[in-house]
Amino acid sequence: MNKPIDPAVLQPMEAFADYLTNTAARIDADAETRALTQGARVGISRPHESAHLHVAGEATYTDDLPELAGTLHCALGLSPVAAGRLTALDLDAIRAMPGVVEVLTAADVPGANDCGSIVHDDPILCDGEIRYMGQPLFAVIARTRNEARRAAARAKEAAAIDAATGPLVLTPQQAHAQQRYVVPPMHLARSVGGVGARAAIDAAPHRLKGQLDVGGQEQFYLEGQISYAIPKEDGAVHVHCSTQHPSEMQHLIAHALHRHSNEVHVECRRMGGGFGGKESQSALFACVAAIAACRLGRPVKLRPDRDDDFMITGRRHCFWYEYEVGHDDEGRILGAEIAMVSRAGHSADLSAPVMTRALCHFDNAYWLPEVSMHGYSGRTNTQSNTAFRGFGGPQGAIAIEYIMDSVARTLGRDPLDVRRANFYGTDEHNVTPYGQTIVDNVIHDLVAQLEAGSAYRQRREAAAAFNATSPVLKRGLALTPLKFGISFNVKHFNQAGALVHVYTDGSILVNHGGTEMGQGLNTKVAQVVAHELGVSFERVRVTATDTTKVANTSATAASTGADLNGKAAQDAARQIRERLAACAAARHGGQAQDVRFANDKVHVNGRTLDFATLVGEAYLDRVQLWSDGFYATPGLSWDKDTMQGRPFYYFAYGAAVSEVIVDTLTGEWKLLRADILHDAGKSLNPAVDIGQVEGAFIQGMGWLTTEELVWHPGSGKLTTHAPSTYKIPTANDCPPVFNVQLFEGRNFEDSIHRSKAVGEPPLLLPFSVFFAIRDAVSAVGGHRVDPPLRAPATSEAILTAIGAVQRANAGG
Ligand code: MTE
Ligand code: MOS
Repeated sequence: MNKPIDPAVLQPMEAFADYLTNTAARIDADAETRALTQGARVGISRPHESAHLHVAGEATYTDDLPELAGTLHCALGLSPVAAGRLTALDLDAIRAMPGVVEVLTAADVPGANDCGSIVHDDPILCDGEIRYMGQPLFAVIARTRNEARRAAARAKEAAAIDAATGPLVLTPQQAHAQQRYVVPPMHLARSVGGVGARAAIDAAPHRLKGQLDVGGQEQFYLEGQISYAIPKEDGAVHVHCSTQHPSEMQHLIAHALHRHSNEVHVECRRMGGGFGGKESQSALFACVAAIAACRLGRPVKLRPDRDDDFMITGRRHCFWYEYEVGHDDEGRILGAEIAMVSRAGHSADLSAPVMTRALCHFDNAYWLPEVSMHGYSGRTNTQSNTAFRGFGGPQGAIAIEYIMDSVARTLGRDPLDVRRANFYGTDEHNVTPYGQTIVDNVIHDLVAQLEAGSAYRQRREAAAAFNATSPVLKRGLALTPLKFGISFNVKHFNQAGALVHVYTDGSILVNHGGTEMGQGLNTKVAQVVAHELGVSFERVRVTATDTTKVANTSATAASTGADLNGKAAQDAARQIRERLAACAAARHGGQAQDVRFANDKVHVNGRTLDFATLVGEAYLDRVQLWSDGFYATPGLSWDKDTMQGRPFYYFAYGAAVSEVIVDTLTGEWKLLRADILHDAGKSLNPAVDIGQVEGAFIQGMGWLTTEELVWHPGSGKLTTHAPSTYKIPTANDCPPVFNVQLFEGRNFEDSIHRSKAVGEPPLLLPFSVFFAIRDAVSAVGGHRVDPPLRAPATSEAILTAIGAVQRANAGG
């Protein structure tokens, strides 16, 4: 029956359609058309290279690849306890189950039973020591996925376990109390006046001290972890893997199989999201699938379901902080001490670089002359935590923002004024605690523009007026800035390679070391190549990331994908263009350096040829029409022992203003409006970059508000392991007024076309949502009490904070 659609259902959809139209309008169409006709292919808004496939459901993800005949399916048997010893595995009953072909344990790993990315402390299958509930004990390979899962679900019956007695270590505080760390503690201190943080705090006119809890976050990539391994001749293996790091998968599979890297071929056309969760943690699945395929001589696919993905893999580290600062009457921080403790989980994984980035982002946009920071990566009986958009940067920066917010409240000043008083200078007060001089500071201009454009001051007054007459609903407003360092802290990761082929019909194929996870990297790289060769975008196709094409690649991470691979592809394309120019000049006269490539034409010595015509001529002249390209970021240095150097090529900046309304009886809240100004340098693709900013904003808002992870304190079970109990934001959580703009600027450094990396930095923008909520909570007590609000600011946390404010107000 055709029922009329309820208009209430349509309303949010219409609002969303309006919103999309507005987004389109924000992109300067005229300027782009002009640029396009002049032959520019970068700086132009292009749809994502696969957008037409995404929307039609035709983009192939790993599970969409046609399965080869004889394909088997794998499922993992998971530990039912969080700590103890696996004393025996009785697998006979499981082997006898329908469809089961083989069951593998740690003893069946031919090479190293380890998939640790940096520290080799990460068993693929349990080798005796049980470290968390959900740890894979064995792998079942069966005819169908369902049969494999049914058999693997019998783990509890099959495993003889000596469960550990005594309390589990689940929280950072517990780990810290026992000094259980996955890597040694890190210390980063700087003293400009020579007095040190402690003395500076003691001598300051005001002191503030406190603690803060910030939760972790599940990546919740829409496509879960998956690997499909196909045995090849002579012991080799080809693995289709949803991964941000094909080269590392290749190395770890080779170690596990006791094979050479040249026998392992890893390929990834695209991921349905990675968000850091497939940087290292795709390895366990890749290794198990490859081991099974090689042992059985048949293709094996391993695709855990969502609950198992939650139970096996780690996520963003939750952090616990203890801080003390000293400040003056204006709120200027004179000295700061902070200890940060993360929940690292059972192994090191990427916890060390995550903590390094956290320590290197505690300063955010602020000059901290006397500072002493300590980072502890707590070893806990939980999944091993890993990369997640921002990679510790957000966890470092939110602590100083919390402090700024509290300092402002205790002084009775507007938090924006306190923040501004602390901003890095441009000529002085511009050296970070880790010794890098900031030469590209745009935060003053950027924040001033946003302050005016968002009518911050007027809306601050309007919110106060509203709150004065509204006892239950309270409005809150906050502006937060961000500065984010771009490059891997490990110098040698900052390199990339690319391979560009020009075929004789003038079509172009590009391969590079980066991976596509929805962020638009392939689109940007194709734009760079099209621009370099003066051809239309449609002529360029980017293919799957493949370890047999570009070797020894870095993870697509730290937001460096376009910076590194864009430059490498440009280098390759430029070499081809130079050869083509020489060929054109030789054939048609004139100088090679005067040959111009634009709009699919080549202008040489007064003549105009089609690009494809010149390519055909060059082929006949035996000119090499393909090239590799390479790039290494210049000028970087880092001493990991002293934590000093120039770890970042440049910084990206941004700021956001958020306004919320909070129901102080229920703790419910709504984001009414968000205004964002974000610095993507000279954007390669404004539409894609605005998409990244919006996505990161909403994703970060989820982290700080609704996404709560709960481990059972007795059993250590992650109880929030599915969307039924773990709430991520949706398109409906976009604020009705969402003004997102890119800051007009260009990279001070010679980055790819002077653009800036944009994948992670905007994840810090929704700090403004959290602090707007805190502002609204503080309105309950007339802004006299500093609310102890933890993140995520769930309705429950908001009510707890309101209660604390009310009690303090009544008492004081
Ligand atoms: N955008 C989408 N759509 N999907 C993703 O998985 N990952 C983020 C960001 N944006 C991600 C994304 C993370 S964690 C990083 S490090 C960067 O993209 C990586 O890509 P880039 O370096 O090409 O920006
Ligand atoms: Mo992103 S967390 O660096 O993969």
